[in-house]
Amino acid sequence: MRKPIIAGNWKMYKTLTEAIELVNGLKRNLYDIIEADIVVCPSFVALDSVSEILIESNIDCGAQDVYWEKEGAYTGEVSAVMLKDIGCKYAIIGHSERRQYFNETNDTVNKKVKAALAAGLTPIVCVGETLTEREASKTFEVIKDHIQNGLSGITKEDILKIVVAYEPVWAIGTGKTATPGEAQEVHAFIRKLLADLWGKEAADSIRIQYGGSVKPDNAASLMAQEDIDGALVGGASLKVDSFTEIVKKSVGRQSCTHL
Ligand code: 13P
Repeated sequence: MRKPIIAGNWKMYKTLTEAIELVNGLKRNLYDIIEADIVVCPSFVALDSVSEILIESNIDCGAQDVYWEKEGAYTGEVSAVMLKDIGCKYAIIGHSERRQYFNETNDTVNKKVKAALAAGLTPIVCVGETLTEREASKTFEVIKDHIQNGLSGITKEDILKIVVAYEPVWAIGTGKTATPGEAQEVHAFIRKLLADLWGKEAADSIRIQYGGSVKPDNAASLMAQEDIDGALVGGASLKVDSFTEIVKKSVGRQSCTHL
């Protein structure tokens, strides 16, 4: 049985004051949720404070990126060891925005995944096709490339520690969600691929999140799909009420907040 994992990727939003306000609100609303792992991923500047607020809570903290070297003259970068040290548990790796704007490749994803694992962080590895790729019927080919190369050389033991996030690029920030059926089709493909590469037992226990315009009103139907084990939420994770709703609906709880 895979425990759902609902993560909020705050991207480049929220000043420190706003981040603190948001996380305190989530802590208040979600304190009794034990059916899912809940993660928030603030910007690097808010990570330490947010992580401190979350000590001994049921919400964990993640970074939005990580560099693969342990330390050194790499101006502007943050290592996995530094993230672990401030209480971070997860690191998003290979988000499509990083692939698109910051030259992230499967090769850099691979180095980051290995560094995160070595430091004891859980990598949330993002894969997904663009609209052009989908329209050219290349979805499965692109996913295969992201998984095979981004995760190359990961041992059978370590693969169990990762989370995969399927984020179709055309659904990110567009309000255009993949239908539950469309998402499930790709999730099933990813699980089969993981089984081919690391064995069925491993594949059956790896969590695969869906990301791309997840909102309170579509979270439950996406989560009801057999191979969808959680959500990676962008825009709707920036408000206390909408992220609360998403988490509650994802675990089948009645909501008590009003939007
Ligand atoms: P949206 O939920 O804003 O579409 O963003 C999804 C995403 O990129 C999460 O990493």
